[in-house]
Amino acid sequence: MRILIVYESLWGNTKKVAETVSQALESTATVNFVDTDSAPNVVEGYDLVIVGGPTHAFSMSRKSTRDAAKQQDAAVHVPQRGIREWLDDLTPVETPIPAATFDTRVDSPRMPGSAAKAARHELRSRGFDVDSKPVTFRVVGYQGPLVDGELERAATWARNLLNGPAAPPL
Ligand SMILES: Cc1cc2nc3c(=O)[nH]c(=O)nc-3n(C[C@H](O)[C@H](O)[C@H](O)COP(=O)(O)O)c2cc1C
Repeated sequence: MRILIVYESLWGNTKKVAETVSQALESTATVNFVDTDSAPNVVEGYDLVIVGGPTHAFSMSRKSTRDAAKQQDAAVHVPQRGIREWLDDLTPVETPIPAATFDTRVDSPRMPGSAAKAARHELRSRGFDVDSKPVTFRVVGYQGPLVDGELERAATWARNLLNGPAAPPL
């Protein structure tokens, strides 16, 4: 089984979740773990695609929101393209490939809108099988860290992707 994990992360919180997801799956599958700048635009041949990014302004980040983050904190890593632009570049698949999405969002105050939900919608429109529900992992403030217990929850979520009802065939 081949799994592609594509993530976007400015302060590293989403990257930590993605790494945890990757580690949870590595014993079962061959995992290709990449950020949006180096992610392939053609994903045929993968059995599962997992996409994660931070929620910015109620949805996936844009260049303007990433630039706003840079203004708040010059030390952030700003990718050339976030998951929104990667999805724009992604070639639709002919045969549905199972896909799952996650995001990170602030814990308090809780706001509507989810990058994971928006990414799932885009994946569906490109022919992916998105039966699994989008999931959110919470961070403290904009910069993090992740709320206690979120990485454990991420590992469990990842394992359930392979074993749960929406799991791709092995
Ligand atoms: C410009 C901007 C807008 C944001 N908008 C939201 C939002 O609408 N809802 C939310 O819960 N968090 C929002 N956040 C917080 C991010 O979700 C948070 O910075 C992110 O989860 C951290 O992940 P990262 O370290 O991987 O970048 C925003 C952050 C920035 C910089």
